[in-house]
Amino acid sequence: MHKVRVAVIGAGVWGETHAYLYHEHPSADLVAICDVDLERAERIAGRFGIGGVYTSHEQMLNEVPLDAVAVVTPDFAHVELAVDCANAGKHILLEKPLATTREGVGAIVRAVSENGVRLMVDFHNRWSPPFAVARQLLDDGELGDPVSAYFRLNDIKWVATDMLPWAARSSILWFLGSHSVDTLRWFFNDEVETVFSVSRSGVMKNLGVDTADIYHTILRFRRGGIASMENSWITPNANPCINDIKFNITGAKGMVNLDLSNNQMIERYTEVKADRPDVLVRHLIHGKAKGFAYESIRDFIDKLVSGQDFLVSLEDAANTSLVILAIMESAKTGKPVAVDYSY
Ligand SMILES: NC(=O)c1ccc[n+]([C@@H]2O[C@H](COP(=O)([O-])OP(=O)(O)OC[C@H]3O[C@@H](n4cnc5c(N)ncnc54)[C@H](O)[C@@H]3O)[C@@H](O)[C@H]2O)c1
Repeated sequence: MHKVRVAVIGAGVWGETHAYLYHEHPSADLVAICDVDLERAERIAGRFGIGGVYTSHEQMLNEVPLDAVAVVTPDFAHVELAVDCANAGKHILLEKPLATTREGVGAIVRAVSENGVRLMVDFHNRWSPPFAVARQLLDDGELGDPVSAYFRLNDIKWVATDMLPWAARSSILWFLGSHSVDTLRWFFNDEVETVFSVSRSGVMKNLGVDTADIYHTILRFRRGGIASMENSWITPNANPCINDIKFNITGAKGMVNLDLSNNQMIERYTEVKADRPDVLVRHLIHGKAKGFAYESIRDFIDKLVSGQDFLVSLEDAANTSLVILAIMESAKTGKPVAVDYSY
């Protein structure tokens, strides 16, 4: 088979992460990049020597022979692009979440199914070594059947105030909560039946970003599993890790705890800062992309080549978005909400 000819739509922070991996992957050929902002697309094209630079994804899809497209645009701007790529017969690696509306979920699922293309959403937590090892312990039966879980996944304020110009058009639930829901569904190997969520606002609004600060959510799974998850973007900026991550899974025979924001494996102290450099998510070793954020992208290419199923199915991605919609409704109404899986 020829190399997978891939293009990236969205030349922002995470689009550059995708480009790095496709550029390095021996089975991928990074042939085009598209962004409505030409300067952004040109910068990444220059860095990786990409031949095709576009500001219109339609023009790119018409002109460039492609096998796959990575859609790496803001959370609210996935649907039209994913549908157009599917209609053009391209396989898709879509950044999380799949879509932020029920109609969007339906439109993508139908376009992918009708065109016979393959789509994976980049829920990269499944490639995170501590999570993958914990999941393996469950699979091996060492913990017994999962009974309950706790998942705290927060961002420092800077992510919403500085990194994402579109934070107010998303939500911490779409940006991080989608990872939480996907991870919990994966651990329980079950679908969420009912959610109850409470949210607060104020800190972000005072900082000029019109978005809720935090959601505390309880999820009940169909086979009885219960989980609580916390998602906020008001962790202080001095937190040594951009994320604040704590996880517990308790089974009938054992439990696992993860603390991924406070490991003391590597500490850096200078005159101006004290922190713990990333050696888990998106680091380079001798110039090679390492870390689970690269692994998921690498696996997308590997699975296109091998023909094996993706680790995250279309159903996983669709159901995760539908659970988030139920959480938002619960936070708004103050009532438990049964997840509506129709679209
Ligand atoms: N930043 C992260 O740490 C991170 C991590 C994982 C996943 N993600 C996900 O990746 C996606 C992108 O996030 P980001 O941080 O790179 O955002 P970003 O704002 O840095 O980049 C998004 C880019 O998309 C471009 N764009 C928007 N609409 C477009 C369109 N119709 N056609 C072409 N280009 C368009 C914008 O001009 C911008 O350059 C989001 O879904 C986000 O949740 C981000």
